[in-house]
Amino acid sequence: MNAVMNRMEKMDFKKVFMMIILVALVFAVLAPLSAKSAHAALANGTYSVDYKVLADGTENTSRLDSYVVKPATVTVVNGVNTARLTITSSNLITAFKVEQNGQLVDATVVSTNTSANTRVVEFPVADLDSKVNAYAEIKIPVINYTGKYNVQLQFDTDSI
Ligand code: HEM
Repeated sequence: MNAVMNRMEKMDFKKVFMMIILVALVFAVLAPLSAKSAHAALANGTYSVDYKVLADGTENTSRLDSYVVKPATVTVVNGVNTARLTITSSNLITAFKVEQNGQLVDATVVSTNTSANTRVVEFPVADLDSKVNAYAEIKIPVINYTGKYNVQLQFDTDSI
């Protein structure tokens, strides 16, 4: 009799265990999907948003990535997102443009700190979940280096 009881308890334990595994699996599959759609619209406010600069058309980190400060500050007013980021070695990054309505437009310079050699730039971002085309010009006169590069900004809305 005891042996039968033991067996039944074991079966129940197995069933409960299987249920827990199943529920965990369903969550694991659904959670990332729901997290993506949760970013549809941000409430008015100011957010710190992590981001990466990617080499043109790739998922690789661009060289430019180490010349910008993370995170960016994104201000949302009635669905309009404005991103602000700080460029370091400001004297070497002589141009920084971001695509707006299909055209590369100079980001607005909000402030410049000459002693720290940085500048803060600002630009609108229509969709924080999509890659944003950007462009930078780099000039290093002492080594006669000039670079004109397309890059993409990828904001990490999961970091909000
Ligand atoms: C302020 C420092 C620099 C910045 C911000 C910079 C930025 C970039 C960017 C954005 C690219 C395109 C690929 C990518 O997105 O990673 C690139 C490519 C490249 N950079 Fe620079 N760079 C700098 C300094 C240098 C220096 C000092 C050299 C060598 C003298 C150099 C040589 C190259 C070469 C050979 C390429 C690949 C070839 C090309 O696409 O033209 N860069 N750099």
